[in-house]
Amino acid sequence: MSSSPPSFPGAARASGPGSSERANLDANPDGSPDANPDARTTFSAAPGPAARRTDSPLALRAYWYIAARSRELRRKPLPRTLLGEPIVLFRRDDGSPAALEDRCAHRNLALARGCVRRGTLECAYHGWRYDAAGRCVDIPALVGEADRPDIRIRSYPACEADGFIWVYFGAEPPAGPPRPFPHHREPGWMSFLLVNRFEAGAYACLENFLDCPHTVYVHTGWFRSKRARELRAKLRDLPDGYEAEFVDERNAQSVVSRLLFPRGSRLIHTDRFLMPTTSRVDYRFGDQRHYVITSQCTPVTETETMVYTMVTFRFDRRGLLGPFVRLYFEPIARHIIRQDVAILRAQSMDIRRFGSPRFRSTAADLLGPQILRLWRAENHRRPTDPSVTAPRLGGTDRTTAEGTAPSGTEVILRF
Ligand code: FES
Ligand SMILES: [Fe+2]
Repeated sequence: MSSSPPSFPGAARASGPGSSERANLDANPDGSPDANPDARTTFSAAPGPAARRTDSPLALRAYWYIAARSRELRRKPLPRTLLGEPIVLFRRDDGSPAALEDRCAHRNLALARGCVRRGTLECAYHGWRYDAAGRCVDIPALVGEADRPDIRIRSYPACEADGFIWVYFGAEPPAGPPRPFPHHREPGWMSFLLVNRFEAGAYACLENFLDCPHTVYVHTGWFRSKRARELRAKLRDLPDGYEAEFVDERNAQSVVSRLLFPRGSRLIHTDRFLMPTTSRVDYRFGDQRHYVITSQCTPVTETETMVYTMVTFRFDRRGLLGPFVRLYFEPIARHIIRQDVAILRAQSMDIRRFGSPRFRSTAADLLGPQILRLWRAENHRRPTDPSVTAPRLGGTDRTTAEGTAPSGTEVILRF
C-alpha cells in the first residue's frame, strides 16, 4: 500500500495522470481483468443518481468513500460504481487522483474505455478530452478553438490517504479529509487489509460486522462457541455514531480466543458504528494487547457493497511479535469474513424471493436499528439533497420503531 499525505480538494476539483490497473479482490490480490469488481456494473445501463429513500445509504452523499486502493490506479483510467453512480478515476500529471462521471458528453461512451493523455482523459470514440475538473478541453474534429462550446461533465473531489483513493459526493465542498484508520502505521502496530465485495447492501454488512449473536452460529468454533453466556452491554450515542461496550465478556472457547487472546486478562470489547458506513470493533486486554477491526463500506448499489476491512493490532508492547502473529491471524480473519460474505449472500437471495425486507428486531439487536435511525436523521438534516425522498413506512423502516434501546441504558444479552 502506498501512503500519501491526506489532501482534500474543493468541490470542483479532481486530479491527474498515471496508470490504472484492474480492481483487486480479496481472492485475487494482484488483480486480473476477471477480478474487476466493476466490470459488470460500469458498462451496464447506468443507474444514475435516482431518488433515494431516507434510510438508503446511497442518499448519504456528503462523505468520503473509498473508490479503490492507491495501487490499483496507475496509467489507465479505472471505472468504479459508488452510490449507484458510474465514475472513472485517473491520475493527473502530478500523480494526484481525479474522479469524473464515467460518461462522455458527446455520445456517452464510458470514458474508462479511453486513455489518459497529458493529465486529461481522452474518449475512445471521437477523442474528446476532459480535464480533472470535467471541462472538455479538446474536440479534435472541430476546427477553430473559438467555436468550441463550453462543455462539462461532473467531477468529484478525490484524494489519496492511507493507501486508498477516496471520492466525495456531497454538493458542498468536503469539510475535512477522510477519517483515518485507527492506529494504522503507528509504531508497534501491525495491519493487514481484507477487501471483499458483498452481495448485500451496506446496512446488512454493517449490522453483521457489529452483531455478536450471529458469531455463535456463523463462526462456530472459530470466533465464539455455542456455550453462550450472559453479559451486559452499555449503549452510548457518539458525536458521529453509536457504540456498545461489553463490560463483563469472557473469552469464548474458539480458535481466535486460543491463539490471539491472553488468558486471565480482562477483556474490554467495544463495537462502534460511525457515520456514514464505518464499523469499528475493539478488543483490548490491559494496555498491551489490542485488536482493532475497522470496516469501511462503500455502497456500490442498494444491493452490493465493497468492504475494506483494516485489521490493526498490537500483540506485545513493542510490536516485535506482530509479523509472526499476522502469519496465522490473517488467514483466520479471511476465513471468518468469507463466512460472512456467504451468509449475507444467502440472506440477500432469500429476501429477494419476497421482493423486499421485512425485519423484526429485539433489544438484542444492539446496533442495526441505530444505524437506520442515524441514517434517517442525517438525510432529514440535509433536506435540500434532491436525491432524498420523503420517508415511507414499510421495509426496513419498521426496524427503527422497535428494538432500539436509548443511549445510556444497559442491555443484558447472551452470546
Ligand atoms: S462519444 Fe466520446 S468523443 Fe464521441
Ligand atoms: Fe461475522
